[in-house]
Amino acid sequence: MVVNRDSPIGVFDSGFGGLTVMRSLIDLMPNESIVYIGDTGRYPYGNKPADEVRGYALELAESLVHDHGAKLIVVACNTAASVALDLLTATLPVPVIGVIEPGARALVRVTHNGKVGVIGTVGTIASQAYDTAVGATGAEVRLTSAACPGFVEFVERDQTDGDEVTLLATRLLSPMKEAGVDALLLGCTHYPFLAPVIQRVMGDGVVLVSSANETAFAVRDVLETRGVEAPSDAQGSRRFLSSGDVEWFATLGRRLLGPELGEVSAWMSGASS
Ligand code: DGL
Repeated sequence: MVVNRDSPIGVFDSGFGGLTVMRSLIDLMPNESIVYIGDTGRYPYGNKPADEVRGYALELAESLVHDHGAKLIVVACNTAASVALDLLTATLPVPVIGVIEPGARALVRVTHNGKVGVIGTVGTIASQAYDTAVGATGAEVRLTSAACPGFVEFVERDQTDGDEVTLLATRLLSPMKEAGVDALLLGCTHYPFLAPVIQRVMGDGVVLVSSANETAFAVRDVLETRGVEAPSDAQGSRRFLSSGDVEWFATLGRRLLGPELGEVSAWMSGASS
């Protein structure tokens, strides 16, 4: 397959969470064209068996490559990246970047006391992908992990603050407080939307780390190394697709991402060419 500098970057997530990565990609590389698929028709991934998530991830990534000519794939979903990155890397003819390794690198960089935490979906935490990625950095840190079931559902119904979510956050984040972490990685792309609540619960002394910016830097590096970055005078275009309700994706997506989220088209499983 032929890709060139004008080919788009392909991004996917189970839903809206990947828009946090999309924001960083747009801000860092406004000249790049990007196609985003939110698999809201099959979300959430976080409590599904790993094999099922792997199948979804492969189908979405192949659609981005074969139907949209993506020159690089960003797995903007921790759950999918934690179980499918190796498969996608081995299968696809273009580079694949996940959010796990960039997030782990950013996390170990900011800690002062060596006690770090990661929160994510049940699937991500069970995969132990962060234990591996933090270990691979070689940093001498102690990692505490916790799943936060329920956080994603709050974001997906646009309830990103208030008593209910604060109560849940207080309960789910207590292992992090007990462990005395001074840096907490939001290991789910939905969680940055809950950052104000999480910060309040954890206290000002704890640095919240999102993998979005670090992932965008990794994408830029790979594009530049391969010589397929968009020309600096290019006008980047953005395309959004959703396997669920496209009107809802447009409405909530625009609130979460900003005005770049224009029209949303339907993406259908099994329709890939
Ligand atoms: N955005 C997904 C992640 O980063 C979580 C949402 C879901 O469970 O589908 O893990």
